Amino acid sequence: MKKVILDMDTGIDDALAIAYAVAKPELEILGITTVYGTAPVEYTYRNTVKVLESVGEPLPVRKGSDKPRERIREYNGKIHGMDGLGETLGELKEDGLVPSQHAVDFIIEETDRCGEDLTIVTTGPLTNLAAAIEKSPAIMKKVGKIVTMGGAVATPGNVSKFAEANIAVDPEAADIVFKSKLPVTLVGLDVTRKTLLTDKDVEKWRQLGTPTAELFASFTQFYLHEYKKLHPYLEGCALHDPLAVGVALYPDLVNTVPMHIEVDKTDEALGRTVENLHVNEDETPNTQVCFQVDAQAFMDDFFGTCHHPNFV
Ligand code: BDR
Ligand code: CA
Repeated sequence: MKKVILDMDTGIDDALAIAYAVAKPELEILGITTVYGTAPVEYTYRNTVKVLESVGEPLPVRKGSDKPRERIREYNGKIHGMDGLGETLGELKEDGLVPSQHAVDFIIEETDRCGEDLTIVTTGPLTNLAAAIEKSPAIMKKVGKIVTMGGAVATPGNVSKFAEANIAVDPEAADIVFKSKLPVTLVGLDVTRKTLLTDKDVEKWRQLGTPTAELFASFTQFYLHEYKKLHPYLEGCALHDPLAVGVALYPDLVNTVPMHIEVDKTDEALGRTVENLHVNEDETPNTQVCFQVDAQAFMDDFFGTCHHPNFV
């Protein structure tokens, strides 16, 4: 079994990634660390706990960073709704059950314990991971692999002409991660826009008829609706975060190119992931960038898992 930590801003496609990951016997999920991003961290933490309850998997969940390192995160409810899950879970209630350990300390502790056996999958802004690297660089060097949903290297961005959301929200954190020389595989819009979920897939959840399938149908319907407004040319909504889990599970799903990736900090292209060919040899490459994906194989596996009649 592959040991993983999922670091997430749960979010609609993050929730789909959780359902997919917990159903895969090949993965041992040590815990889920949460970060602000699609919504404030109080919501992304709550959403994570609720999604795990709904799929019947009581994993450790840790609350993490509540804001970017230097910037201000503003929320507009587009794509994921103001609560991150398409307004499906109702009002936020603080129930006092939040564990005291911070997400960053959980990441450091588990990396120290598991070393190269550990894969960290990130599907939100890189604020938690950057803080872990900054706090315990020697321990974090032990990590086996980091699979990051983020960036857009040869395709347009989704929050600006050039930038992808997870990188653009906290470009300084992303910068720390790329400069850390940790083994990062970048699952960006270059590949995630090729793996799509459509109305028919939502309908299949509705037909399963369980409370969990109904919940998933409801928030995914919201995501599809929002996506159509933003990307009328796409035939569905992108399975960004599930694909990152898919790549952690099955690296052969993608073809990667080793590159030296940097984060653009200029106003016009803030958060753009760019290749720099003009660096010293000992600095390059720092990232495996995914450019091709066997989209059919991934979608067959994802829907085979999440549309299965046993989907609780
Ligand atoms: C990424 O941003 C978030 O909205 C999604 O959950 C995904 O992680 C896509 O750019
Ligand atoms: Ca996400």
